[in-house]
Amino acid sequence: MAQKLKRRTGELLELISTSVPSGLIPFIAGPGDLDAVRAFSQEIFRDNALDRAYLRHSLGPGHSLVFGLKMDGRIVACSALEINMVQKRIYITEIGVSESCRGRNLALWMMGRIQQIAAIYGYRHITSHVTLGNTASLNLHKKFGMKPQRVCAEYFHDGQDAYYMHKQVAA
Ligand SMILES: CC(C)(COP(=O)(O)OP(=O)(O)OC[C@H]1O[C@@H](n2cnc3c(N)ncnc32)[C@H](O)[C@@H]1OP(=O)(O)O)[C@@H](O)C(=O)NCCC(=O)NCCS
Repeated sequence: MAQKLKRRTGELLELISTSVPSGLIPFIAGPGDLDAVRAFSQEIFRDNALDRAYLRHSLGPGHSLVFGLKMDGRIVACSALEINMVQKRIYITEIGVSESCRGRNLALWMMGRIQQIAAIYGYRHITSHVTLGNTASLNLHKKFGMKPQRVCAEYFHDGQDAYYMHKQVAA
């Protein structure tokens, strides 16, 4: 089985503090960040933002991780992950970058950290769902090495179809 992430020990923060883009500060969100993470999710995903109940669970004791980058104390890049130790799988629930910071490889930086976490803690699969028409996100996932496995009809709650994306992580 894969190892449980030690979110509260500082170990993960140390792990993601590599190759940090200049001028930005990495963070791992805790319960006190709920409002800031929710506001960021609303800024990026509008009506499809992560809801408070989901975030409360994600930022609480459950096995999930919300992390990203801040600039001047404000979240500019954020990713929410669900982590399944039995399936050795990290599922990217959400990944987003503020409009003003796009095109600077911040999303790729987050993907790189997810891969690093997976490799170190023994997770073998990184998965996600991406809307068929989201070219930027599809290109990002493909550039990171994720491949579309199948189309899931009406996967998102607004009725949009999605590709199920997958990447195998080497042991
Ligand atoms: C998708 C998103 C996270 C990319 O963030 P970003 O930090 O600008 O991406 P990066 O700079 O790391 O780009 C990495 C790669 O993604 C792809 N990409 C990013 N933006 C793109 C765009 N507008 N058009 C086409 N491809 C794009 C490219 O392949 C790029 O590599 P390249 O610059 O060498 O061509 C960002 O556009 C975003 O937040 N979009 C809205 C939210 C969203 O759709 N999230 C994904 C949900 S599944």
